[in-house]
Amino acid sequence: MNQLHIEPLHDDFGARVTGIAISGDMPDTGVAAIRDAIDTYSFLCFPDQDMTDEKQLAFTRLLGEAEAEHVVLGKTGKVTYFGTVGNVQDDGTKRGNAHANTHYQTGNQLWHSDSSFREVPSFVSILHGYEVPGEGGETAFASMRAAYGRLAGDMRETIEPLHAIHDYVYSRSQVAPVDPNHAASLPPVMHRLVRENPLNGLKNYYVGSHARSIPGCSGADSRRLLDDLLARATRPRDIYAHRWRAGDTAIWDNRCILHRGTGYDADRWRRRMRQTRVVGGEKGVIHTSAMA
Ligand SMILES: [Fe+2]
Repeated sequence: MNQLHIEPLHDDFGARVTGIAISGDMPDTGVAAIRDAIDTYSFLCFPDQDMTDEKQLAFTRLLGEAEAEHVVLGKTGKVTYFGTVGNVQDDGTKRGNAHANTHYQTGNQLWHSDSSFREVPSFVSILHGYEVPGEGGETAFASMRAAYGRLAGDMRETIEPLHAIHDYVYSRSQVAPVDPNHAASLPPVMHRLVRENPLNGLKNYYVGSHARSIPGCSGADSRRLLDDLLARATRPRDIYAHRWRAGDTAIWDNRCILHRGTGYDADRWRRRMRQTRVVGGEKGVIHTSAMA
């Protein structure tokens, strides 16, 4: 029987979890305990995991439907389930600071929720670190649930009925051009600005770099509100910055957590991390008028 040991990492969210080995053959009680911990803590780190791609994908499927990786899917139509984070290629070679892909990945340094730009956004992301930089490369996390809890009542009422348009091409174009096939595969979508966890009823708002505008608001008012909500969630005291160790497996709840990568010297360090995601349960609305 797995026995989880949970140590909180920040006053608002996050936990370090030991006493369990992540794999595809975990008992139902272990999976249920992890699901409960996701709903409660939003970010979980399981250190010293003996991971493989096979184990990670099998575990991902214990939590729900594995999400097709959107870059390969958009460019080629091929369904794959892993994203490689970092500068080490499948053949083991390392890309340095000057490589275009290293630059492209700097888009992950903007606060975001994974796949918020998809019609059905992610439930959780699962990221395992195989090789991590000795310096830099932390991932920072912040809770939109805690930030919602800090809002005054009138602000909560103001945002409750609103929606936001999430647009990958809008956000990623700020750092690098998007492949035309990839762009065509990701039309803007609309999601509720306020979401609620179906199990514990806790609410959060849902913003981040892919959130482009608020239907019914002017461009300036849209940006003012979206930027204000983002700033309220990501004050220095609200952030937990995870310093990766090789063997860490992390799970975060994209429904209510923002994250961003931080820089590292890709000329000096190797970074090889593998990510899978689980499809969420709440479907947004394809906002066809935004495509004009
Ligand atoms: Fe991300």
